[in-house]
Amino acid sequence: MKPIAGWLGMAAMSVVISSCAAQAKDKVSADQHIEALIAEMTLEEKVGQLTQYSDVGDTTGPLPDDETQRQKMDMVRSGTVGSMLNVIGLDDIRTIQEYAVEESRLGIPVIFGFDVVHGYRTSFPLPLAEAASWDLAMMEETARIAAREAAADGLHWTFAPMADISRDARWGRVMEGAGEDPYLGSEIAVARVRGFQGEDLSAPDTIVSTVKHFAAYGFAEAGRDYNTVDIGTVTLFNIVLPPFKAAIERADARTVMNAFNVLNGIPATGDAYLQRDILKDEWGFDGFIISDWGSGVEMIDHGFAADGEEAAKLAILAGSDMDMESNVYAQHLAGLVERGEVPESLVDDAVRRVLRVKAELGLFDDPYRYIDEARAEQVLLAPEHLDAARRMAERSVVLLKNEPSLLPLKQGERIALIGALAGDKDTPLGNWRGMAEAHSAVSVVEGFEAAGLDFVYEKGADLEIGDAGFANPVVVNTDDRSGFDAAVEAARTADKVVIVLGEDARQSGEGRSRTRLDFPGVQQELLEAVHAANENVILVVMSGRPLVLNWADENVPSIVQAWHLGSESGHALTNVLTGAYNPSGKLPMSFPRSVGQLPLYYNHLSTGRPDEIPEVFWSHYIDEENSPLYPFGHGLSYTDFDYSGLSVAADGSEVAVSLTVTNTGEVAGEDVVQLYIHDRAASVARPVRELKGFQKIALAPGEAREVAFTLGPDELGFYNGRGEFLVEAGLIDLYVGGSSAASLTQQIDYQPRPASE
Ligand code: NOJ
Repeated sequence: MKPIAGWLGMAAMSVVISSCAAQAKDKVSADQHIEALIAEMTLEEKVGQLTQYSDVGDTTGPLPDDETQRQKMDMVRSGTVGSMLNVIGLDDIRTIQEYAVEESRLGIPVIFGFDVVHGYRTSFPLPLAEAASWDLAMMEETARIAAREAAADGLHWTFAPMADISRDARWGRVMEGAGEDPYLGSEIAVARVRGFQGEDLSAPDTIVSTVKHFAAYGFAEAGRDYNTVDIGTVTLFNIVLPPFKAAIERADARTVMNAFNVLNGIPATGDAYLQRDILKDEWGFDGFIISDWGSGVEMIDHGFAADGEEAAKLAILAGSDMDMESNVYAQHLAGLVERGEVPESLVDDAVRRVLRVKAELGLFDDPYRYIDEARAEQVLLAPEHLDAARRMAERSVVLLKNEPSLLPLKQGERIALIGALAGDKDTPLGNWRGMAEAHSAVSVVEGFEAAGLDFVYEKGADLEIGDAGFANPVVVNTDDRSGFDAAVEAARTADKVVIVLGEDARQSGEGRSRTRLDFPGVQQELLEAVHAANENVILVVMSGRPLVLNWADENVPSIVQAWHLGSESGHALTNVLTGAYNPSGKLPMSFPRSVGQLPLYYNHLSTGRPDEIPEVFWSHYIDEENSPLYPFGHGLSYTDFDYSGLSVAADGSEVAVSLTVTNTGEVAGEDVVQLYIHDRAASVARPVRELKGFQKIALAPGEAREVAFTLGPDELGFYNGRGEFLVEAGLIDLYVGGSSAASLTQQIDYQPRPASE
């Protein structure tokens, strides 16, 4: 009899035992069963648990041919595939699970993973866009819904959230993260992992979360994807690692994905310091590490492993537990163990981690528990999910500029709506769109129609020729201006122009690095032509990253950053433009004035020559300002907020901060109140500003509210280059306000009490 039967019996018995004791007992029995299984497994079966293959769905490498696919299925039947990704649909998942459970010797279920990044069927805004909401509860809710939908379609595991901090808008994957700040990034990673995993992983509507990419993938040199990373350990410990640590320690993320890049000469997949010393030993991570797609075998191209066999050896020794699609474990690991080059105990440890997560999902109790057609029917694209998509999209929009204020639009105004992206039902779904149906988003045109606005629509010019899809380069329209005249004429006869420009869905994301951050194709020309006909221009920017908006900032009164907002994009944008929703988003990344400034980030160190002098010998460019066009944390509202009464009181190791925020305008609005510190002199130089707290509050017109923060050693300390956390005495400046340029300030002389007092 297969061990699975014993498991089922054990689960049935435990129903009568009350919850806590039962859970502890279940864990002991689960551990015992895992050990029993490991004792019974052959080396090939063990290696199988560490092998993940892709179906022919959304792959990120060359597609497997039919013969390869047949071989993979035979391997599942023989119990030598522990996991699959990109298997979509209940029928396929059931079939493969049956192969594993009914036909393999030990009947160990397969864990099915997929990139559920910003929604599954219901599409939410890009992760970077959601980050602009600074609304943690809402981000947890959208991850929850994405998990519910993915689980209803039979999936167990998402490769999200991406917790990579990045300071470089050239890197296409900034769309997938939470921006440039480790504090905001940590809070968001925690919220997202909690959303995906819920309270109980064995519930049929929760899925395992992966924090990725461990580590420093967001620091790819020159923003070119997959490129070398070379950063110091102060940056590693203070900027790169905190979101991962938070996701593991505070939200119990059960899996971690390593990365394609080398970090200081060592490919992340073969980096024992990162994976064993820091992640598993120091942080006590007891889930498992999945490699990135083929990152094991890519260590050969990196010049780190001589061949596949050495790649397998280096990866397992370094602590990379499961091999995604590079086949190096399947081909070489058993031989390495047999020849004594890899201790079998390391393989056992990796297998134990994988089986533990499968047990936590409840797969040993019922390998088909996620497969339920009726639930799928009910859950996918449920009306309440679309409602959440609209609410999240509204909160993700950032009003960059409104001067003179053309927004909100007023009743009776005649609008010229211009731009291919205004009519586009696909681009708002963004990249990494899960199983969102192509061309299923609400366009801006449809949003305007539904709201009954008085408008004419003219495309002006296409952005993309054809439809690139996930794997192919976008072909940009660079010469067809045939629609310009009609667009200009529409603008000339309108009260106001709303022009929607930016990037196609497939111009950001993996493999989509850019050297220019302007509007691709003829869009800038279209903007200038339309503006020449009517200066009352409202520019709506759809993009997966910060773009350079200098011309618009100088010439266009109102600018709205709309990212790629998901299924309900058009309705959400219409609500923001009409004031039905008062914008509340704040930038999670600095917007540069020029690509030449990159990497650009608000929490930089000071140089020794920070101040402007008449001579040239200070730290600056001769052809551009140092500052960003729009700073981190920036975002306007249709009302104004005033910050006053900053009070700071130290009590032992804690500092209490409070201030009063007043809505001084005429309409209700939400503000993100931000708290920054600057440690003036420390044993390791500290950034000029660091975010250490924020609160999103809603205020009626005229309403004032006291907002309080507490800072302790966790916020006021920092890591040195050896990874030691230091809390030092000395002067610290505090700044509070509505962006990283906040001016209300006070200073404290921080004297932390020694732990013994
Ligand atoms: C490669 C990407 O880097 C990773 O983030 C993703 O999860 C895998 N492909 C699987 O699609």
